[in-house]
Amino acid sequence: MSRFQLTRTLPEDATGAALRADVLHGLTRTPKELPPKWFYDARGSELFEEITRLPEYYPTRAEREILIARAPAIAAATGAKTLVELGSGSSEKTRHLMKAMPELQSYVPVDVSESALTGAAGALLAEHPSLQVHALIADFTRGLALPDTPGPRLVAFLGGTIGNLLPAERALFLRSVRGLLDPGDTLLLGTDLVKDEDVLVRAYDDAAGVTAAFNKNVLHVLARELGADVDPDDFDHVALWDREEEWIEMRLRARSTLTVKIPELNLAVPFEGGEELRTEVSAKFRQEGVRSELATAGMELTEWWTDSAGRFALSLAAVAH
Ligand code: AVJ
Repeated sequence: MSRFQLTRTLPEDATGAALRADVLHGLTRTPKELPPKWFYDARGSELFEEITRLPEYYPTRAEREILIARAPAIAAATGAKTLVELGSGSSEKTRHLMKAMPELQSYVPVDVSESALTGAAGALLAEHPSLQVHALIADFTRGLALPDTPGPRLVAFLGGTIGNLLPAERALFLRSVRGLLDPGDTLLLGTDLVKDEDVLVRAYDDAAGVTAAFNKNVLHVLARELGADVDPDDFDHVALWDREEEWIEMRLRARSTLTVKIPELNLAVPFEGGEELRTEVSAKFRQEGVRSELATAGMELTEWWTDSAGRFALSLAAVAH
């Protein structure tokens, strides 16, 4: 029997419909905002990969350091036979984990990108001769149904992507993750940590301008997908630290008064000179906050591992009893 299965839980046109709804909602409200998931077309995904190699962008390297150091402890603590990875992308990070998991029988990568899922599966199947891969094309922020694979399960949500959800969205998301877990299953969660403002801002406003290009890429997506007549060079990249909320915000600031016409939505969006569109929130965490958010969702923090410089954390959580 084939060791690779792909299940689509999203209709083919779901992405287009969701983009239209988000643009219509986000660009007609004040202040203007768009969710960060629209950065990630092929070009945006490439730019993000480039970001992970920038000297200023430490989270990817810090998380990899923890995963490599702690993979044996994670394998021993969870005894997982199934690894579910939410937002698996290229599956690069999980590779380190899987090498240390002798009990692993089944890998369930979940992503909205079919090409990322099929691309990642080939190498993993070759590296693990008895592994079953059951890839899911799904939006993990919505109700997710997992395939019937052997337990216990370890659900991994890495990269600090949970920081892209607003607090209310985060609470809903953690509740739905809790709903996926049976007693004995675990969650492995990657979170970037609160630190010096300069270090944080530089990570989101690098000298080479890669993050600026990544931020502006959402405008290219609007142009291509919705026919928007927008010139990305009419906007400046802005990254700032909100010390009350403890999150980084990325924004696009209009260089002058202008109008963005979006024919496919019958919409003309006016910007005043200097007006900003929020494109991303990237929350930074502390141990106590993670512990209490997990507890609110019915989970218990059982391990907290950071890199040697204390920049990033991996949390292991169990179902609370
Ligand atoms: C992959 C979502 C965790 O918030 O740090 C990188 C995305 N944005 N640079 C992050 C991102 C700007 C990244 N996440």
